[in-house]
Amino acid sequence: MNYNQLSKKQLDQALSAARKKYNALLKEKLNLDLSRGKPTSEMLDLSMPMLDILTGDFTSPKGYDYRNYGIPDGIPELKEVIADVLDVEPDNVMVGGTSSLNLIYDVVTRAYCFGVCGATPWCKLPKVRFICPVPGYDRHFAILEQFGIEMIAVPMDDNGPDMDMVEDLVANDQSIKGMFCVPRFSNPSGIVYSDSVVDRLINMKTLATDFRIFWDNAYCVHSWYPDAPKLKNVFKQNVNLDRFYMFFSTSKITFCSGGISALIASDKNLQSQRKLLGIQTINYDKLSQYAHAMFLRNADNVKAHMAKHAEFMRPKFDLVLSTLKKRFEDNPDVKWTQPKGGYFFTVTTAPHCARRTIELCRKAGLKLTDAGCTHPLHQDDMDSSIRLAPSFASLEELEEGLEVLCCSLEIATLERRCSGEKNSNV
Ligand SMILES: Cc1ncc(COP(=O)(O)O)c(C=O)c1O
Repeated sequence: MNYNQLSKKQLDQALSAARKKYNALLKEKLNLDLSRGKPTSEMLDLSMPMLDILTGDFTSPKGYDYRNYGIPDGIPELKEVIADVLDVEPDNVMVGGTSSLNLIYDVVTRAYCFGVCGATPWCKLPKVRFICPVPGYDRHFAILEQFGIEMIAVPMDDNGPDMDMVEDLVANDQSIKGMFCVPRFSNPSGIVYSDSVVDRLINMKTLATDFRIFWDNAYCVHSWYPDAPKLKNVFKQNVNLDRFYMFFSTSKITFCSGGISALIASDKNLQSQRKLLGIQTINYDKLSQYAHAMFLRNADNVKAHMAKHAEFMRPKFDLVLSTLKKRFEDNPDVKWTQPKGGYFFTVTTAPHCARRTIELCRKAGLKLTDAGCTHPLHQDDMDSSIRLAPSFASLEELEEGLEVLCCSLEIATLERRCSGEKNSNV
């Protein structure tokens, strides 16, 4: 329904009808959490054979006993698998612990305390700023907030961040030391950076020589449709190789709480990271690394494994897309992204309707990520961005949840339209 075409009286009628529907939904007593991107138990079951893969012999083909101390930056067998998946050199892979977010935090901490490759530590600078494409990942923003790093929100479209704005900022501001990107199936919009955006990120001039892009490639192999867009490889262009810290994670390939993370970076960057890591730890969990190497094996096998994940995810993505299309196709007040992979959708409401929608959902038993979380310091000035994470629900639950979401969206939008201004309470 296009609300633009309705008279005031028709808008009022549509609002009463939506409220009636909502009151009926309240009686259903839904209890569903679509706030975080989590795989289902069935998806985790796909990796159970990995837990039986280490049988008796923990000595690698090269003679290391992986039960013992050593090899802080990761075992060669796993570096080869990760390098194959990402089409990079194994020497440019440093394997971390269970969490890529933890690895990102460590890399920020190292830059803050010790500086990037010999540059002044960020803690000694009067101001450090980061570019944060929005909508973005709340946990990235939380790290920067904790370190007192100023965040500059840059809007994104279907191709990635607004590159005119990014180029202008980094060319003129020495205090801009970094940028966060989730370049494939972005959290939360699900978009994939276009080749042209990636080229501009690689080639842009930065005033700060220690500027780094935190290229969080958490969803690099998480395509659910055959026509999912590919991401250009930033390490293949041979330009500004030191600019990128790429992060990889198997949390959503094997196990969220027992996966493997990796940092992929230039020789110079990794040399510096290894030196600092050598003080921090003697090694990460090499037994898990060895199990991952044997289970994942190579890029083709990872692709086949992720095709099984896609069987679970695709019907949910289809359901979200078909439901939103059915309900809001003709309604310019509600827009949504159409990701071909990853874990998230962004629903964009009319201005000042997101918080109200999320609140209405909560009262009807549907938990969504908090309003504003897609923006630094929770400052979504337009109050229009909603992150939707449909992965954990069953199809039946998701259908019920989407009904609540759509009804709440209708109410929040119609309330604005009818009152002209403030949303009221149901
Ligand atoms: C973009 C992004 N990076 C990192 C993570 C966390 O990954 P890990 O489990 O490896 O810490 C997530 C989890 O949702 C994510 O969406």
